[in-house]
Amino acid sequence: MPTKKPAKKDKMVKLWRCEICGDPYIGNNPPDNCPFCGAHKKYIKVVKKANVDFNVTLNKKDKANAEHALQVEISNAAFYFCAADKTDDGEGKLLFKALGKVETEHAAIWKKILKLSSIPQGNETCHGRNRENLEESHARETRAIGFYKQAASESENTRVKEIFKALVEVETDHLKLSEERLK
Ligand SMILES: [Fe+2]
Ligand SMILES: [Fe+2]
Repeated sequence: MPTKKPAKKDKMVKLWRCEICGDPYIGNNPPDNCPFCGAHKKYIKVVKKANVDFNVTLNKKDKANAEHALQVEISNAAFYFCAADKTDDGEGKLLFKALGKVETEHAAIWKKILKLSSIPQGNETCHGRNRENLEESHARETRAIGFYKQAASESENTRVKEIFKALVEVETDHLKLSEERLK
């Protein structure tokens, strides 16, 4: 029996993996951004070629920065989920839900790097008015970008530096989302 030729190679479903968060994705093509952590396309590889390592030895500075990063992400995730619940705008609810999920994934990255067994629950307040939530989002993302840039420059570990740099790009995308809506 002649075997049936597969459809065009680029139409075949593949298993991809994000090198920043380590999560797998099934699709014909790599997504422009990791659907979990938001990392840019350059970090998404077919699973066999993806280089994912969370078993890194942290020096004192990297450990302190990773611990701070975890707290930032827990706090931002809690704020976004609060905003998704309370904000007075339908699109805003969806935006904040999406952001809450991404920040939760970022917290999970730091949990893996810090070898923790669980992620502490965050507890944050937010606003009823969508504009105020967007303004707070903008302030939170600005602080996160500043911190991640500094942490990336301070790190001498290639992998830790790579994660800090990738997250600068993701939080910059988040900043643009609030900027567009605050115009
Ligand atoms: Fe990812
Ligand atoms: Fe984040």
